[in-house]
Amino acid sequence: MTFKIPSLCAALIMVITHVHGQNYEAQVDALMQRMTLEERIGQTVMYGGGWDKTGPTINTEFEKHIADGNTGAMLNVYTAKGTRALQKIAVEQTRLGIPLLFGYDVIHGHRTIFPINLALSCSWDLGMVEQSSRIAAEEASAEGLHWTFAPMVDVARDPRWGRISEGAGEDVFLGSAIAKAYVKGFQGNDLSANNTILACAKHYVAYGAAQAGRDYHTVNMSENELRNVYLPPFKATIDANVQTFMSAFNELNGVPTSGNKFTLRDILKDEWKFKGFVVSDYTSINEMIMHGFAKDSLESAKIGMNAGVDMDMMGEVYRKYLKQLITEGKVDEAAVNDACRRILLTKFKLGLFDDPYRYSDETRQKETIYKPEFLETARHIAAASSVLLKNDNEALPLSKDQTFALIGPLAKDEYHINGNWGGAGDRDGKSVSIYEGLLEYVSDKAIFYSKGCDIESEDQSGFKAAIETAKKADVVLLVMGESYHMSGEAASRTNLKIPGVQPELIQAIREAIPNKKIILVLMNGRPLNISEEKEEVNAILEAWYPGTMGGLAVADLLFGKENPSAKLTATFPRNVGQVPIYYNMKNTGRPIPKNNPKEDYKSNYIDSPNTPLYPFGFGLSYTTFTYSDFKISAKTIGFNETLKVSATISNTGNYDGQEIVQLYLHDKVGSVTRPVKELKGFEKIFLKKGERKVVTFEISTEDLKFYNAEMLYGVEPGEFEIAIAPSSDFEFEHMFELKK
Ligand code: NOJ
Repeated sequence: MTFKIPSLCAALIMVITHVHGQNYEAQVDALMQRMTLEERIGQTVMYGGGWDKTGPTINTEFEKHIADGNTGAMLNVYTAKGTRALQKIAVEQTRLGIPLLFGYDVIHGHRTIFPINLALSCSWDLGMVEQSSRIAAEEASAEGLHWTFAPMVDVARDPRWGRISEGAGEDVFLGSAIAKAYVKGFQGNDLSANNTILACAKHYVAYGAAQAGRDYHTVNMSENELRNVYLPPFKATIDANVQTFMSAFNELNGVPTSGNKFTLRDILKDEWKFKGFVVSDYTSINEMIMHGFAKDSLESAKIGMNAGVDMDMMGEVYRKYLKQLITEGKVDEAAVNDACRRILLTKFKLGLFDDPYRYSDETRQKETIYKPEFLETARHIAAASSVLLKNDNEALPLSKDQTFALIGPLAKDEYHINGNWGGAGDRDGKSVSIYEGLLEYVSDKAIFYSKGCDIESEDQSGFKAAIETAKKADVVLLVMGESYHMSGEAASRTNLKIPGVQPELIQAIREAIPNKKIILVLMNGRPLNISEEKEEVNAILEAWYPGTMGGLAVADLLFGKENPSAKLTATFPRNVGQVPIYYNMKNTGRPIPKNNPKEDYKSNYIDSPNTPLYPFGFGLSYTTFTYSDFKISAKTIGFNETLKVSATISNTGNYDGQEIVQLYLHDKVGSVTRPVKELKGFEKIFLKKGERKVVTFEISTEDLKFYNAEMLYGVEPGEFEIAIAPSSDFEFEHMFELKK
């Protein structure tokens, strides 16, 4: 390892920092004037580590790149000790002592793991989203991390795509609101505080629309669809001051998104005036060769930089080729300078030039991770994210004086329960299984356990024991679903059934105990086709992967300490053939008549209803809510006027509970066709048993805007249907008109 002059310049930079206070731009300029071209290129390079239980494991070649000033950032390295050691190399061994950025996938928690993002979105609770990412940032920053590769704000309408689990589901409006809440939680109000981290809006863009749900795949889409559906959540993160973006793996209309000047420079940097920096996805610049868009690595580096990707994650092509490309006149040095400037600016904002080790504090790490209050919050959030899909004859909540047959491959699981992208969360030891959760309520003598089968195997040899177990108890609790590897990156499925022989086990148990109460608790990372299982069981609780405290949260729901309030943010199909299926689709010239869904020459299937199994916005509670007394402030509004609509929501059941009240619009005629329904507002309210509340929404012209065929964003006069509803499954009854 070569040692360079200990950094006098680093000290100088710190002095300059203090002299100039918050004027980061000037400080970046001053620093850049001292930097060689190689050093500026070095800032655009990211390398990565591996890790084991003791902390990060770093390849010595990467350490050398850090010491040589060839590295601006590292990924997959955490712990206060590990990051401090690497930071020391950057600060003490490089000529200018520029600190490194440490980034990691803190996706739904760092150590304390919250429910997977799709689950969390089902809470429709922006406060909880912010709270969970705030806690994630507290823990991550205490382990030396400055940056998370989150939130994933890709609209996803295809449950075959495993990464649907990482986002906020299918809707633009809700997805945009949730995107903002994540950014606020991670970044806080002051980036220089040692408990805030940079957020990263990913994967830019349209990654969720991959052909046939195959990961990394082709996307062909009109600019109109791109602007109306896929771009808004990204724009929302900019409005929330997100500091970084990640370009994606997919191509968009023939141009890979990591080499797409139109989306990166024209839209993101010019139109939206994004001032932060763009990092590529993992080797996504190099992958343009396989896409057939770059002939070799040299050309891929040229395309990436010219398109506006500022940092190369793990691809090594910027380090190897940018200098040559500049010398040959193929990349403008100004582009590299701009990239370097953006990256340095974030380092200044984080306060790394004041103290490069400010996030790498072992005492704070010890005090912060798995704080009891974090775990308590995680428990509560997990309960708010589980969706009650079925509850016939009030099968739930359970009474404590019964016996339970606990069956299924996930019943005692502590491993899958954290879900994919489980951060640095300890899967064995810390996470609470559903079995352990139940023990908070009933003694182990009241629980008879039988695994029944594995998640994915075809082996039915455990069925017999499971059936015997089911016969012994008053109530059967089945805990089933996918393994966590079945969703997330590179985990697309063509079959949306509960895997393996689990469906057969459900059927066998039902046949053996036709009259007993069977409750199905599901853990999975995507909407599943549970059309048949739905008929076999009395209640279904979709718990997704509920995280570290998942078992307790599920038990809290099953025994009624918490009342389910979550509602689906992604449609559950009846069968895989309906996919993609989502509520805010367009109409056709031949819509299906309500009273005759099978009518010939209409837009229907001949072998399946078009309607979903469970629609967007749907979720039950132990209580019931009724909607009445819809009021609208005017039948006509002008361009700068606001409309008020309200409805009375009453808790008509036997429990206190929360209800997610939803506002939908339908723009009846547009210069480009508009979706049949669009969510435009929501409010989560708490109502005591017997209580009622008036919920009011305001609609302004801003809410009616969309991109027209010329890609102009604006409103068009005309008629709009409007509704306040408990889910997306309703018929409009009211309307208003927008007049010029
Ligand atoms: C690839 C994934 O697509 C991205 O989401 C993630 O942030 C990076 N790898 C880094 O782990």
